[in-house]
Amino acid sequence: MRHHLAFFRQFRQRFETTGAIAPSSGFLARSMTRYLAGRKDEPVRVLEIGPGTGPVTKKIVPLLREGDRFDLVELNESFVQILQNQFERDPAWQPAASFSEIHSLPIQEYAPEEKYDFVISGLPLNNFPADLVESISDSYFKLLKSGGVLSYFEYMYVRPIRKVVSRGDERVRVRRIDEIMQGHCDRHRIRRDRIWINVPPAWVQHLQLREVTD
Ligand SMILES: C[S@@+](CC[C@H](N)C(=O)[O-])C[C@H]1O[C@@H](n2cnc3c(N)ncnc32)[C@H](O)[C@@H]1O
Repeated sequence: MRHHLAFFRQFRQRFETTGAIAPSSGFLARSMTRYLAGRKDEPVRVLEIGPGTGPVTKKIVPLLREGDRFDLVELNESFVQILQNQFERDPAWQPAASFSEIHSLPIQEYAPEEKYDFVISGLPLNNFPADLVESISDSYFKLLKSGGVLSYFEYMYVRPIRKVVSRGDERVRVRRIDEIMQGHCDRHRIRRDRIWINVPPAWVQHLQLREVTD
């Protein structure tokens, strides 16, 4: 409940980047981690973008093992504090603390040296300018290893409805975002989950950067 209140406060203060009134449900978080849950025995590199108060992180940490690497990129300093606290104090998170790092910056500025097996993103792309969506969504694929999986969610029917009811610049923005994200899904989608028990209900999209074979 404490995290719900903190999230709601950020929603009111920073609507555009927070993008939701409540943290994701456990059902949504489980879907976001379904490919990580099916990992093999080798060490993996995992990136979570926009963890917020950590409902998806909570499902990620028990799936990690010594030898893995877990990076979290979150621009909101209030959420960074909450996440840091969780790694320090929560017995379920503590085992992952030594190989996890929270990066307090926008994903656009994050430049890691190595790519990831799993990129799990909670960014509210539908709230962003279309150019930003294009550069962030392209960077998802630059951050993925060949064969790696990107999982992200979007609230159901928000874009299809806004595409019809909005006017002027807003209509242009939403239509461009739709084209950009539909293009990625057409090329790379391996699965879409419908999550009804979430506020609001959401689709979880899973995309895979196909292995390049010579
Ligand atoms: C819709 S909330 C999702 C939070 C959490 N993953 C969940 O499922 O409840 C979006 C999160 O993305 C963060 N965020 C927004 N824009 C970002 C950016 N450019 N880089 C990193 N984090 C960002 C926000 O601060 C917020 O924590």
